[in-house]
Amino acid sequence: MEERMVTGELQDTDSSVELSLRPTNLNQYIGQQKVKENLSIFIQAAKMREEPLDHVLLYGPPGLGKTTLAAIIANEMGVQFRSTSGPAIERAGDLAAILSSLEPGDVLFIDEVHRLPRSVEEVLYPAMEDFFLDIVIGTGPSARSVRIDLPPFTLVGATTRAGLLSAPLRDRFGVLSRLEYYDTDALCSIIERTADIFDSNISKEAAVEVARRSRGTPRIANRLLKRIRDISQVKGESEISLETTNEALQMLQVDEVGLDHIDHKLLKGIIDGFNGGPVGLDTISATIGEESQTIEDVYEPYLLQIGFIQRTPRGRVVTPKAYQHFGIKEDDVE
Ligand SMILES: Nc1ncnc2c1ncn2[C@@H]1O[C@H](COP(=O)(O)OP(=O)(O)OP(=O)(O)O)[C@@H](O)[C@H]1O
Ligand SMILES: [Mg+2]
Repeated sequence: MEERMVTGELQDTDSSVELSLRPTNLNQYIGQQKVKENLSIFIQAAKMREEPLDHVLLYGPPGLGKTTLAAIIANEMGVQFRSTSGPAIERAGDLAAILSSLEPGDVLFIDEVHRLPRSVEEVLYPAMEDFFLDIVIGTGPSARSVRIDLPPFTLVGATTRAGLLSAPLRDRFGVLSRLEYYDTDALCSIIERTADIFDSNISKEAAVEVARRSRGTPRIANRLLKRIRDISQVKGESEISLETTNEALQMLQVDEVGLDHIDHKLLKGIIDGFNGGPVGLDTISATIGEESQTIEDVYEPYLLQIGFIQRTPRGRVVTPKAYQHFGIKEDDVE
């Protein structure tokens, strides 16, 4: 038990470059207008009442800024940001160690909160609701339950799959915020901001082009920009040009609408192997050799968003829009 208490450690896995790209307050956080407006009001109100902010659940596809926003919440509240993840908290004791080390008002960020073990989740309920823990110490006849009072804190949970969260856990979050894919304008601002941090110049057209081809996702925009910047630098450009951008994106196998070779494999797999579908997720997964979970979390949401695939009760279907994109004529459906 004692030993386990120290293993529920808080993690910080991001590289320093990643960290330097992270906006630190709500004003620097680009896009997600609705989410920002709401949070800003709740944060102000909590501060006026000198209470911790209500628990917040952030959900949406990977790379849209959930972790970034969680850290901003702590910063705006003027409290410490402590970060861990669902799978890292293996036992109730791990959670107890983390919670009892918090200062009043702190933000505890739990990434992948849908992956908390059920036994840990149950201990979390009263902690979220009334700031206490009941933990069992010892085993067998000598086992006894101990109540530990906790400092009031704010739990910020993040998940790519809100649907996988148990209802009792979901119900204990006072604020539910869904992050949406970014539009081209917002991504363009993010790219210009990142270029600035990198001390590079990028032409407006080039920034727009990267934005258009980043699948609505800041993480992808920043990643593409890094590679394009490398190529531009080697070419000796003083400003990243549209020409270099197009060249680089082609090298990186990112197509005109931002799809990469895995998106292509997925769509072509359904078109060629299953005449456009419908086909079940597991069948697609086996055919193209990508995990179902990755397809569902990472690839499918964007393809659904841009209307290249549809989900039907009988499985996934590729739409005429996707056929058009590939310049393939749809076979007659019998
Ligand atoms: N609104 C934003 N403004 C500026 N940069 C952003 C914004 N959102 C995200 N970013 C950038 O995108 C990167 C990815 O964001 P973040 O790691 O917060 O995403 P995430 O939603 O937590 O992803 P995952 O689900 O994979 O954990 C960050 O490094 C940050 O630089
Ligand atoms: Mg994250």
